[in-house]
Amino acid sequence: MEDSQKPDLMDKIVSLCKRRGFVFQSSEIYGGLRSAYDYGPMGAELKRNLMSEWWRFMVHSREDVVGIDASIIMRPEVWQSSGHLANFSDPLVDCKVCGERFRADKAPRKAEGEDAPITLGDKGRAKAAQEKLTEAGVKLQRDGTTLNGAKAGAAGYVCPNCGSPFLSDERRFNLMFRTSLGPVDPIGDVVDIVRKAMAEGADDKALRAKVEGALAASSVYLRPETAQAMFVQFLNVQQSLSLKVPFGIAQMGKSFRNEVTAEHFIFRSCEFEQMECEYFVPPGEGPKYLDYWMNERMKWWRSIGIKVDNLRFRKHDDDELAHYSDGCYDVEYKFPWGWDELEGIASRTDFDLKAHAAGSGKKLTYFDPEAVDPETGKPGRHYVPHVVEPAAGATRGVLAALCDAYDEEPADAEGKGARTVLRLHPRLSPIKVGVLPLVKKDGMPEVARKVVEAFFGAGVNAKYDEQHAIGRRYARHDEVGTPYCLTVDTQTLQDETVTIRYRDDRRQERIKIADAVDTVRKALTETT
Ligand code: GAP
Repeated sequence: MEDSQKPDLMDKIVSLCKRRGFVFQSSEIYGGLRSAYDYGPMGAELKRNLMSEWWRFMVHSREDVVGIDASIIMRPEVWQSSGHLANFSDPLVDCKVCGERFRADKAPRKAEGEDAPITLGDKGRAKAAQEKLTEAGVKLQRDGTTLNGAKAGAAGYVCPNCGSPFLSDERRFNLMFRTSLGPVDPIGDVVDIVRKAMAEGADDKALRAKVEGALAASSVYLRPETAQAMFVQFLNVQQSLSLKVPFGIAQMGKSFRNEVTAEHFIFRSCEFEQMECEYFVPPGEGPKYLDYWMNERMKWWRSIGIKVDNLRFRKHDDDELAHYSDGCYDVEYKFPWGWDELEGIASRTDFDLKAHAAGSGKKLTYFDPEAVDPETGKPGRHYVPHVVEPAAGATRGVLAALCDAYDEEPADAEGKGARTVLRLHPRLSPIKVGVLPLVKKDGMPEVARKVVEAFFGAGVNAKYDEQHAIGRRYARHDEVGTPYCLTVDTQTLQDETVTIRYRDDRRQERIKIADAVDTVRKALTETT
């Protein structure tokens, strides 16, 4: 697809996702839930295939990485030690004119008094707000979807929805979802505290601190990243398998962040899936393994069919780096709205293991009998391993795969009609083979069902499909990215052959039914 066709690509993808059962809005019949999504029959397969490919590449294709599957709820001390309780927050601001709540660090930034042109957000609310602003003497001019004339206030930005400089102070908003574990009633505790504090005449600040304290005592958090369990279980994993550094622990699964700005469909949502690996290395070897993992990870994104031109690295500037990190790169994808992050690859020094050792009082060190202790010069060395972390988004990967694969073909001179086709890598495709009887009679459905069963037996996801004319069935399979369709027709009944149709060029040829499973299986492995 040409770049010029891309501005409305996201709308087309969102529409295809709903129409063909990839992604639905969560709780849609009740009005939908902001920034939460359900993966439908096609989306569940696509996400699962993408994550299986990651596991195959990261865990099953190397000796030095093992996988775990940890719980989503962890003790609050984990998040205390990791720094998430204190620091995992966004600066939140409310617009006093239109009521928009937004992230200060994402707002259009300008020095005080300078023009800050903004792209209009919620049109209805923005319009009402502009009327109020005009009344207050702030004149804004609209140019299409851009609003000019907004002047930044002392904070250095304006409301991204309506352009107002009338804003609340910034507050830190922790992104972790808090809940409680066990038969506790935090509300009951809070009511008691409030009653007592009111009787004592406590001020707001003191009351807030007491309520926070009561909630914290019974709180647990949904994990905001899969990473921490791999640090916390470092010793168990290392000792149970007698692993030698360097080695990695990999995990994939759900993470939760109460994102202030959920955006771009499934790109940034509150519940999402990550695929992370913590690779433990000897002190001083972080930069070497950072290079290694950058190469490996880029190789993987390409291996699942993402176009080379749509992938790049972005080096983090020094002021972006966490204080403990000595290098970090993002793998970025060229989404329809521009380059954005798919994966972060960071050299994290020994920060994580040291933080959990300090928090838990447990020694999280490794003993290498073959190394020489640099201080004593004697054989045998105890040290805290350093970590390199490739941390990818699975749900973001799904969106990148959809954007990359989406294509529209106009009708051509040979009479091939216009179509929408998802050119997914066959290993990602939700359905690998569509098996289609040409008509619903003359024994064709029976033969087609036998062909499907042969694929079931071989562990290849095939689907029997007899609804509508054959052209519509091909079009439906093109739209969900099915790489191969097998058609059972009159000739099949005579010579036990079927037509195989290739999604990408619509080429057709005849193959024997007896060879169908092997032909497709071979094609699936050849494309890796
Ligand atoms: N352990 C490091 C870590 O979690 P991160 O950059 O915050 O690093 C890693 O997250 C990846 O997880 C990101 O590159 C992105 O692909 C994905 N991710 C993060 N927040 C997300 C969200 N709200 N929605 C979807 N994916 C998200």
